[in-house]
Amino acid sequence: MYQIYVRSFADAGADGVGDLAGVRSRIAYLQRLGVDAVWLTPFYPSPQRDHGYDVADYFDVEPQYGDLAELDALVAECRSVGIRVLMDIVPNHCSSEHAWFQEALASAPGSASRSRFWFRDGRGADGEVPPNNWSAEFGGSAWTRVTEADGAPGQWYLHTFTPWQPDFDWSNDDVVEHFDRALRFWFDRGVDGFRVDAVQFVGKAPGLPDTEGDAPVSPARNPHLSFVASSHAVWRHWRATVDAYNEAHPARDVFLVAEAYTPRRPDILAAYVAPDEFHQAFSFDLLLSPWNVATLRDAIDAPHRALTAAGTTVTWVLNNHDVQRAVTRYGRLVAHDVSSWTGSPLGYSDSEVDVALGTRRARAAAVMVAALPGSLYVYQGEELGLPEVLDLPDTVRTDPVFLRAGGAEIGRDGCRVPIPWDDDATTACGFATAPATPWLPQPENWSTWSVARQEGDSDSMLALYRATLRRRTELAPHEGPLEWVLTDHAQLLAFARGDVTVVLNPTSDAVTLDASATEAADIMLTSSPGHVDPRVVPADTCVWLRS
Ligand code: NOJ
Repeated sequence: MYQIYVRSFADAGADGVGDLAGVRSRIAYLQRLGVDAVWLTPFYPSPQRDHGYDVADYFDVEPQYGDLAELDALVAECRSVGIRVLMDIVPNHCSSEHAWFQEALASAPGSASRSRFWFRDGRGADGEVPPNNWSAEFGGSAWTRVTEADGAPGQWYLHTFTPWQPDFDWSNDDVVEHFDRALRFWFDRGVDGFRVDAVQFVGKAPGLPDTEGDAPVSPARNPHLSFVASSHAVWRHWRATVDAYNEAHPARDVFLVAEAYTPRRPDILAAYVAPDEFHQAFSFDLLLSPWNVATLRDAIDAPHRALTAAGTTVTWVLNNHDVQRAVTRYGRLVAHDVSSWTGSPLGYSDSEVDVALGTRRARAAAVMVAALPGSLYVYQGEELGLPEVLDLPDTVRTDPVFLRAGGAEIGRDGCRVPIPWDDDATTACGFATAPATPWLPQPENWSTWSVARQEGDSDSMLALYRATLRRRTELAPHEGPLEWVLTDHAQLLAFARGDVTVVLNPTSDAVTLDASATEAADIMLTSSPGHVDPRVVPADTCVWLRS
């Protein structure tokens, strides 16, 4: 599966912002890469305060990105070459510009319009204190006070993220019905499924109790706001809607993938992929893991065990539009340090970066993750080995993480810089079809990583990803078991997939394998150019050995 951050993939309109027509113009590239499906980040009408994760209308296309006809054309063309199309849907919150929220603002406290959201009276003599002490994900209180129709300060509304993203109240039938309609609306247009945003925050604890203690608690760690058990009823309802759709349309097989950060809690992850809930749920432990044998093994083994026991497989991911790119994470001088396993979705660190080292490790990680049983999502640019752009000027940063933290956190713009397709500086390295200024500036040397430059280089990251995705199909990717082998080698992480042994050496020294392990073994795939001896695994390398 390939994640497309629409805004940054390809710009057919030459306005500096990626669009659906741009995606359509690059289908041949996706085919050649060997992906089965694409996930498109939100392209609904939106004021873009969180780049589309603030949806103003769930039934249309943002004009910057195209229109419904363009989407139809994209879906049809993808389908004609066997690529399925996943959209992104945001059930926890909408944009404050959504018609329902505007209607709620214009309505009286206690009105039906307000009951679709979480409007509450404040505490204190004049209601000037927020209804509880919850914090928002991108900084500040999770409550914002409104001004009522008479001009007086009024109620407060709840937002897990920014004030521009009011949370829906899922106990409201209008909300349930609205999303059922949205799912079916897009399925009817040929969309094959949805990546479902921030599922852990849907559903709040009854009574909205304060968190304990005086220190602010982030939403992810707020037990009244995150992973509230009763909210699983919402997902069982969605699954029933999806199953009913598939039953009524026998040629279709639409599906749902959950986004929930469940750091080192495979039991919580497993609950989302119960047979009557999501078809897939991202496991982020590997993405968050330091480059260290013990934690990498745990990040693979724990979700694998839990999801196998639940009768399903793991959905692996090394990158997405919310975290610093793997090349940069693995290139940090502290990358091996277990204390950097923070559970933070941003994986932020100040430690120095060695891009060459990070690239070597990212190659090894890619070869390793592709050998695991289960599904795999690749984030655009990962296959080019793009590093995080850490030095964007503050003036061009747009991420609410940066803006809300007053610059104290650099945020996520650095993994969203438009893709370099070729060497043409005037078109933002081929990102745009005509001269354009990209919405985020590309670094001077961005074309070093361009598709055009990597095409002709058999040692490039792109060549490695193409080879890896092709050869992955020989491993029967959806079937287990995952058997740990070579456990005598403390420096290695190795597992068997049938007659293939996958060996990762995440240390800085080459490791010589036992003669018995490599007898009659051939290198099927290696992350290190020039690696030809199956008996030796070079530093920061992953190899597939076939016996
Ligand atoms: C998760 C999305 O991946 C992220 O980009 C967004 O900011 C939040 N959810 C809020 O929707």
